[in-house]
Amino acid sequence: MLTTAARPYIDASVPVLREHGLALTSHFYRRMFAAHPELRQLFNQGNQASGVQQQSLAAAVLAYAANIDNAAALAPVMERIVHKHAAVGIRPAHYPIVGRHLLGAIAEVLGDAATPGLLAAWDEAYWLLAGELIAAEARLYQTVGTTPGALQPLVIQRVERDGDEVLSIWLQTPEGQSPGPFLPGQYISVEAILPEDGLRQLRQYSLSDAPQQPWWRITVKREDGHDGVAAGRVSNWLHAQAQVGMTLRCSPAFGDFHPDLAGEAPLVLVSAGVGVTPMVSVLNTLVAQRSTRPVVFVHAARSGRHHALRADLAAARQALPGLRTWICYEHPQDEDQLGTEFDRVGRLDLRVALARLLPDGLSEADVQLCGPQAFMRAQWQALLGLQVPAERIHREVFGPELLDHLL
Ligand SMILES: Cc1cc2nc3c(=O)[nH]c(=O)nc-3n(C[C@H](O)[C@H](O)[C@H](O)COP(=O)(O)OP(=O)(O)OC[C@H]3O[C@@H](n4cnc5c(N)ncnc54)[C@H](O)[C@@H]3O)c2cc1C
Ligand code: HEM
Repeated sequence: MLTTAARPYIDASVPVLREHGLALTSHFYRRMFAAHPELRQLFNQGNQASGVQQQSLAAAVLAYAANIDNAAALAPVMERIVHKHAAVGIRPAHYPIVGRHLLGAIAEVLGDAATPGLLAAWDEAYWLLAGELIAAEARLYQTVGTTPGALQPLVIQRVERDGDEVLSIWLQTPEGQSPGPFLPGQYISVEAILPEDGLRQLRQYSLSDAPQQPWWRITVKREDGHDGVAAGRVSNWLHAQAQVGMTLRCSPAFGDFHPDLAGEAPLVLVSAGVGVTPMVSVLNTLVAQRSTRPVVFVHAARSGRHHALRADLAAARQALPGLRTWICYEHPQDEDQLGTEFDRVGRLDLRVALARLLPDGLSEADVQLCGPQAFMRAQWQALLGLQVPAERIHREVFGPELLDHLL
């Protein structure tokens, strides 16, 4: 617990962080990378360039300060950070470096307002949080049976293009086996050494097939450049380079986004774009389990050409008696057939979809949500409007979590 001396300083920081949190974390990363250029290899430089990682850290620090007495509100935020840290191989020795530069950034950004009392309070708060993260990460590494940063070489067994911008990659150990257990909804980190500048980068990809299969499959959307913004580096590298026989170094599976498949309540899977990948892993797992559970699958895509893993969905429709689906295409093409391949033209209205698919209501349902930020925000609000309690809505964001639904 925070000492009574530190507490008023942390409380008083909440409005300051709301206003200056982003300036603080941006300065922090600049400061830390200047002193430790080797850490650029650990951090996603795309998230740094677009500014989302700075926003994510600012949001986490603010959430922490604002909820210092509310461990229940912080628990899912902490859980997500712990899994992300484990997926990129954070170790205890990293914490003093981050602590030093975070405190240094607070002192420099706040100037005269950074009194010795305030700096001492944040030093205490940082180490309280760091201690919890270090302990939880140690437990997770032990549960998974790995060590920080360990990657295993996996061999690409199959590569398949799926529509205009998606590529699925099947991975096995060199002995031709499954790389390991996972829970449907979890992700792995994939390492890329980028040819242009030799930069080593990790990216996370959700496993998109069932754990019962003797492989892992990832399904990668190519991030094209647009309006002067650079194209995504690792996704384009994978699209250009991935071929059968090539080796990719990957982490074990991590992630806290996995429904309880033993339950009997209706399972509601809501996704957009490539956010479909963890949902298809869930569907394929239910198929492998011959499940009869009621499942609602709602998906939004631009058109049939952008609707990833359609073949898996078609197979699940045949195999799962409890599955009901609702597909929206925003800009259907001539070849897309309304009524058979998709149900609605335009953006997803979750209220309409759920009124049709779950007419008895959502009182017991477990909801899994995955897609772009704006989509997540809209569906989160729609679900709260339908009286779904926040603790039964589980979210995965394919980038740093900005916590905008909480703050
Ligand atoms: C838990 C998790 C699971 C995921 N699962 C999947 C999955 O199953 N399938 C999948 O395809 N992806 C998934 N992702 C996303 C994936 O990890 C990568 O983020 C994605 O492939 C893009 O990486 P990249 O290296 O190609 O792009 P980056 O080079 O990292 O760029 C990211 C984005 O930022 C933009 N950008 C680059 N520079 C700037 C700049 N200066 N200003 C503004 N914007 C900029 C790029 O155009 C691009 O759109 C997941 C992410 C997470 C965290
Ligand atoms: C109290 C200390 C820390 C806090 C509060 C914190 C917070 C966060 C948050 C909020 C995220 C984003 C999670 C998401 O994806 O939603 C994150 C990711 C990450 N953190 Fe930390 N972190 C801490 C310590 C560290 C340390 C010591 C390191 C090691 C240098 C580190 C390295 C990373 C990396 C590499 C990522 C992935 C980000 C990316 O590449 O996009 N963090 N952390």
